Amino acid sequence: MVLQSTSVSLLFVFAISGLLMPGIDQAVGQDREPNKATLVVRSDQAGPVINKNIYGQFAEHLGRLIYEGLWVGEDSPIPNTRGLRNDVVAALKELHVPVLRWPGGCFADEYHWRDGIGPRDKRPKRPNASWGGVDKNAFGTHEFLDLCEMLGAEAYINGNVGSGTPQEMMEWIEYMTSDSDSTLAQLRRQNGRDKPWKVPYFAVGNESWGCGGEMRPEYYADEYRRYATFIKNYSGNHVQKLAVGSHDDYYEWTEVLMSQAARYMNGLSLHYYTLPTSDWSRKGSAIQFGDKEWHATLARTLRMEEFIVKHSAIMDKYDPQKRVGLMVDEWGTWYDREPGRDMGALYQQNTLRDAVVAGINLNIFNRHADRVQMANIAQMVNVLQAMILTDKEKMILTPTYYVFKMYKVHQGATLIPVDLTAPEYKVDQASAPALSASASRDKEGRLHLSIVNLDPNSSAEISTTFSGATIKSVTGEVLTASRMNAMNTFENPNTIKPTSFSGYKLQGSQLTLSIPAKSVVVLELR
Ligand code: AHR
Repeated sequence: MVLQSTSVSLLFVFAISGLLMPGIDQAVGQDREPNKATLVVRSDQAGPVINKNIYGQFAEHLGRLIYEGLWVGEDSPIPNTRGLRNDVVAALKELHVPVLRWPGGCFADEYHWRDGIGPRDKRPKRPNASWGGVDKNAFGTHEFLDLCEMLGAEAYINGNVGSGTPQEMMEWIEYMTSDSDSTLAQLRRQNGRDKPWKVPYFAVGNESWGCGGEMRPEYYADEYRRYATFIKNYSGNHVQKLAVGSHDDYYEWTEVLMSQAARYMNGLSLHYYTLPTSDWSRKGSAIQFGDKEWHATLARTLRMEEFIVKHSAIMDKYDPQKRVGLMVDEWGTWYDREPGRDMGALYQQNTLRDAVVAGINLNIFNRHADRVQMANIAQMVNVLQAMILTDKEKMILTPTYYVFKMYKVHQGATLIPVDLTAPEYKVDQASAPALSASASRDKEGRLHLSIVNLDPNSSAEISTTFSGATIKSVTGEVLTASRMNAMNTFENPNTIKPTSFSGYKLQGSQLTLSIPAKSVVVLELR
């Protein structure tokens, strides 16, 4: 009896310290019995091509993303090429960034492109009304498109509907893409760029139901049709026109946009952010959390699938051919501001939890590649779920960066369906599948399998079979750590990075995978 009550009270202490007090730096519990799962990789079936743009990025004039994170200026002591910092560009190149969205976000609907061209010392300084501070406009159209060329990324420009005009939008596209001798094309040449750029994606506003103008869907649908009319193709450039889409479960927006304007668009966006709580005034900490917050965050991120399925079902009614892409052009984690950081800067650290969130979402996008044509994580450097964090001349790569690096093998590959039977991962009454997976075959015929183990306490033993293929070799990488909140810091930049994966047994056609607790694994199978 005494023993029992001691263990009960000890359990209570653990529960309080581990589950309820997010301030505790949460170490991992002992690995329990592995979860048993089965996975059938349908290698004899081919799904749609996974659009490489699912691995897209987003860079807004916000906090220290553009200024400091990307742009340091030509006179900076930080090594740079035409003002863009070399270390960050080199790291991003490793990700094969397929597409980059700019200049916002909310900032897009207050941005006037003429402010950002011509001699830098003559450019106006404007308040950044969305995020605070003053924008010196040193980074504008030329600098952005130069960055895209350095990265080998396609340009996705987000136009201004909220405070702009169709004429301003139309002239911006002419300035960038026309090879004629029009006054605007000549102005571009005077500003240092002879040949026109390609601009394959252009969006008509951002979050027009909110910061982009607080519009009703009916009103925006008409505005979209009007603005989209003036997005013209010059000199062989072909612009895909993207409409502002919904967020979360705002299905009425999708219904109205698709019924009123589908035939004028190539893509419709969707925004969904993952918060550990569902409360925007108390989102939760980026780095101090326990099992409960870990589970809640992953359960919330899994809702991405529900939103994609339901928005897609509405799109299917009006576009059964799936001509209009669902562009998830803002997604990722959003935590409380760190003490001492600027209110509007949205700087947050990035832990193993963010890596798991990234792996889950990328698996979801891959599996819905029939409709999801683009996704842009928010955001690329120093803002929200960033790939890279900088502090003056220092730079660190986040766990999310490594997931994007590991998953790049899926870009442009053919989706291979998978049937995964996994146990539930439970905390208190809350339950979520313990595993997430997706697979693809690349142009060279190699199979790539990405698996996320959501459970922070139990590894998974996955009995894996392949229909229509014999696997002879397995190689891969795993991203994990002993702590749920493992992160890279400027003092310890290499705490968490991928290592080679050896947790498999291949016997004849039977592959058994041993996936560590709280990990992301990407395998190449031949
Ligand atoms: O990514 C930060 C902000 O989140 C974007 O500016 C806006 O579109 C969204 O609300």
